[in-house]
Amino acid sequence: MLNKIKNIFIEKFGEKPVIFRSPGRVNILGEHTDYNEGFVLPAAIDKNIYIAISKRNDNIIQLYAADFDEMYTTDTANVKVSSTQWANYILGVVDQLQKKGHALTGFNIVVDGDVPIGAGLSSSAAVECATIYALNEIFSLGLDRLTMTPLAQKAEHVFAGVNCGIMDQFASMFGKKDHVIKLDCRSLDYEYVPLKLEGYKIVLLNTNVKHNLAASEYNTRRQQCEKGIALINEHRPEIKSLRDVTMDMLKKYVEPTDPLVYQRCKYVVQENERLLMACEDLKKGNITALGEKMYETHNGLRFFYDVSCKELDFLVEYVKNIPAVAGARMMGGGFGGCTINLVKEEAIEKLVADVSLAYTEAMKLPLTAYIASIEDGTKRCS
Ligand code: GLA
Repeated sequence: MLNKIKNIFIEKFGEKPVIFRSPGRVNILGEHTDYNEGFVLPAAIDKNIYIAISKRNDNIIQLYAADFDEMYTTDTANVKVSSTQWANYILGVVDQLQKKGHALTGFNIVVDGDVPIGAGLSSSAAVECATIYALNEIFSLGLDRLTMTPLAQKAEHVFAGVNCGIMDQFASMFGKKDHVIKLDCRSLDYEYVPLKLEGYKIVLLNTNVKHNLAASEYNTRRQQCEKGIALINEHRPEIKSLRDVTMDMLKKYVEPTDPLVYQRCKYVVQENERLLMACEDLKKGNITALGEKMYETHNGLRFFYDVSCKELDFLVEYVKNIPAVAGARMMGGGFGGCTINLVKEEAIEKLVADVSLAYTEAMKLPLTAYIASIEDGTKRCS
């Protein structure tokens, strides 16, 4: 990958680049909790976005996406949302840096990688994190990871129009080999928990669909959670987020007025509780208990939060009664992408073969499987 991107860069721009990488992520538990100031349990994986970069002597910004064989050119005074979607993740970061008062001059970038796009593995966060890390280094901006991460998140809000939480960018930036990150999304305090899977591996099953409503429904869920808080605030003005909400408050103040918003909020409150218990399971090496919680999360996302789809449900239902699978659930924002499965190592090959056949027959779609290993976050590679 490094040689490939270096050669493309030399071919396009006639000089040698500096190369950075930033990984995609998985999330063990804690879905749709990040923007509710709750907890998440993500980890960076062995799939990366690479940014090859060099500074220019003028103010031109030239971006080339190897995957799309497409060049995008602008200049530092004209950084705005583009109809070229992939460029927005880079331009959004430039925009955030400029808004913070960092005067950047021109640069060349080649972007490439092996994080599958639209698979719920946060390829967009990986592009944002690799970009901000690269710009920080070549322009000597002196920013630390904790400063860069929210800027990468903000780039997604403004230039991709998704009002995402901080989980994906945080996981990409702060990943640590063989550890999951227990992140408190309110304080950004975090703890690395060793991922000891006791003979199980993380298997990702990619539905190969991304339904169109993903972005709009995501923003709607955020609003529904905010509505829940507003209803509670009529009686308890001190409550700031679903993090501080109890089932009792939801029953009293939300359910009678808005049963749908109640369902959404109930899922989030339960998911936070589940995650704290899941961390204990992980510390004790109780993978069976952890796996059961993953199935509970899937049900919550499917029936109460309503962000699953028939392809994801098919995959979770299929593995549910297989003893070699400790747990499975949809992962990420929803409406497509991957399921995350904890599977006994010796059973993976057969499981993947069987589920692929069944999935393709039922959904008329191909299934892609990956075994994810857990790696370090954003880095300079050359
Ligand atoms: C997407 C968002 C994250 C998070 C997840 C759901 O991946 O980018 O911030 O909200 O969905 O947990």
